[in-house]
Amino acid sequence: MNPEEVKLVKESWAKVAPIADVAAELFYGKLFELDPSVKPLFKGSMIEQGRKLMAMLTMAVNSLDNLESIVPSIQAMGKRHVGYGVKDEHYDTVGEALIWTLGQGLKDDFTEETKTAWVGVYTLVATTMKEAATEAA
Ligand code: HEM
Repeated sequence: MNPEEVKLVKESWAKVAPIADVAAELFYGKLFELDPSVKPLFKGSMIEQGRKLMAMLTMAVNSLDNLESIVPSIQAMGKRHVGYGVKDEHYDTVGEALIWTLGQGLKDDFTEETKTAWVGVYTLVATTMKEAATEAA
């Protein structure tokens, strides 16, 4: 990712962070609409789950200048997801729900450039998780 993309992701995330709980709710609503079959994989409180997801994304966004530093924790997360029943193909649906949610939260601020930058971040994190999951298998 280039510095301009890093800047766009950080600035846009700062606008979503204050509405994290609403964003998380929108995200899961969209995810379960896109693929109802993943709903049973989530066993705990969706509010707690939403907070964990947002905290993890905040960590990733804060580390964009030094992504190598969080690769081990992303790999570990990918391995844990195997145990939750998550399959490679689920990552595309989760990515779609995430990008849609950002669009809802950011409205006109979700420009094509910002969207492309976010797709880059998500692809990076998802690819790292999937690779670690494959190694674990
Ligand atoms: C960038 C991608 C993702 C991020 C950042 C993320 C983040 C997280 C975090 C932080 C947790 C808390 C537990 C832990 O850390 O191990 C979690 C749990 C979980 N995630 Fe993800 N996740 C991602 C992708 C996915 C995908 C593709 C699915 C597929 C539907 C998924 C389904 C789940 C489930 C089922 C749990 C456990 C819920 C429970 O115990 O009730 N996640 N995720």
